[in-house]
Amino acid sequence: MSNKILILPGDGIGQEVMAEVNRVIKWFNENNSLAAEVEFDYVGGTSYDINGTAISEDAMKLAKSSDAVLFGAVGGPKWDNVEYENRPEAGLLRLRKDLELFANLRPAICFPSLVDASALKREIIEGLDIVIVRELTGGIYFGEPRGIEDLGSGNRRGVNTQVYETWEIVRIAEVAFELAKKRNNKVTSSEKRNVMESGLLWNEEVTKLHKEKYSEVELEHMLADNCGMQLVRCPKQFDVIVTDNLFGDMLSDVAAMLTGSLGMLPSASLGKSNNGIFKNALYEPVHGSAPDIEGKGIANPLASILSFAMALRYSFSRESDALLLEKAISNVLESGLRTKDISTKGSSIVSTVEMSDAVISALNNLT
Ligand code: IPM
Ligand code: MG
Repeated sequence: MSNKILILPGDGIGQEVMAEVNRVIKWFNENNSLAAEVEFDYVGGTSYDINGTAISEDAMKLAKSSDAVLFGAVGGPKWDNVEYENRPEAGLLRLRKDLELFANLRPAICFPSLVDASALKREIIEGLDIVIVRELTGGIYFGEPRGIEDLGSGNRRGVNTQVYETWEIVRIAEVAFELAKKRNNKVTSSEKRNVMESGLLWNEEVTKLHKEKYSEVELEHMLADNCGMQLVRCPKQFDVIVTDNLFGDMLSDVAAMLTGSLGMLPSASLGKSNNGIFKNALYEPVHGSAPDIEGKGIANPLASILSFAMALRYSFSRESDALLLEKAISNVLESGLRTKDISTKGSSIVSTVEMSDAVISALNNLT
C-alpha cells in the first residue's frame, strides 16, 4: 500500500523549499520504506497564471484523494491586482474549507541553538515549547454576510461576519484538550468576550466541555489582546492556546517571532481523525512566499521539512520517523549551519540546497 502525497509548491520561495522537501521524502522512501507516491500541482498565483483560478478542480480532486497535502506558500506583488475571488490566498482557503481542515496546529518551539536569533532575551524564550490550536474553517474568514456594498454618493460599506456555533467550538476545544493531555496539561482559551457575543459563546462552550470531559486538564481563559501581550512578556506560561480563526492568525505570527525565525515553524491543518490518523491533512510552513528573496536560493527550507515531519506523525502514524527527522534538523543546527534568516555572528551561512544536503547527511548519520 502506498502513501499518496500531493505537493503544492505555490508561489515565491514555495517552489524552492518544496523541491527540498521532495528530496527528504525520497530519502524516507529509499531508507525507511515510506512508500510515498508524490504528485505535484499548482496553487496560488502560479495556478492563476496557468488556469485562471487559484486552484483548479483537478488539483482539488488530487488533494481530496491524497493522504497528505504538502503546501508551500502563496501570494506576491505580481498578483496584487487580480480580482478578489481569484487572489492567490483563495486557493489555500478553499483547500482548508473543502477538506474540512478545522484544526490548525502551530507549534512555536525555540531550538536551543537558535536562542540568540530571537529578538527577545534568552531567559524569556529558552526552552519555549507551546502550540497554538487555531480554528481554521469558521469565524470571520468564512462568515456570511460578507462583501463590499455601494451605498451611493461615494460611500461604501465593507462587511464581514464573525460567527461560531457550539459544535465548531466544541470540536476545536477537544483537539486542544487532547493535545494538552499529551503535553503539559494546560489549555489557555482566548477570545474577546468583553466585546463580542461570539467570544462569550466560545468561552461558555469551552468551560462547559472542560467541566464535562476534561476537568483533569488545567483551563484558563484569556482575552485575546492580553494573550498577545502575555506571549511577548512571558511566553513560557503557556502550553496549548486554543483560539478562533482570526485571533489564531495573529497570535501565531507573534508566537512565531518569539522563536527567532519564521523560517523555522511548521504547521498542520487537520480534519476529523480516524483512530488518530488524519487523512487529507495539509501541512505548510508558517512563513509566506517571501517574494523579496525568491529565486536567490537562500530561503530556509526547514519549516517545510519540519512540516513534512508533522505529516509523518499525523497522516502516516510514523512517530519514530518524525522524531528522526526532527533530530536530524536539530543536529544540523547544533553544527552551526544557518540559512541567512537565522544567522547570528560567526555562523556559516548556507544556501537552501546546502541546508537540505546537511539534513540528508544528518539522516544518514543517524541511521
Ligand atoms: C496563514 C496566512 C493565511 C491566513 C493567508 C495566506 C490566507 O496568513 O496561514 O496564517 O490568513 O490564514
Ligand atoms: Mg497568517
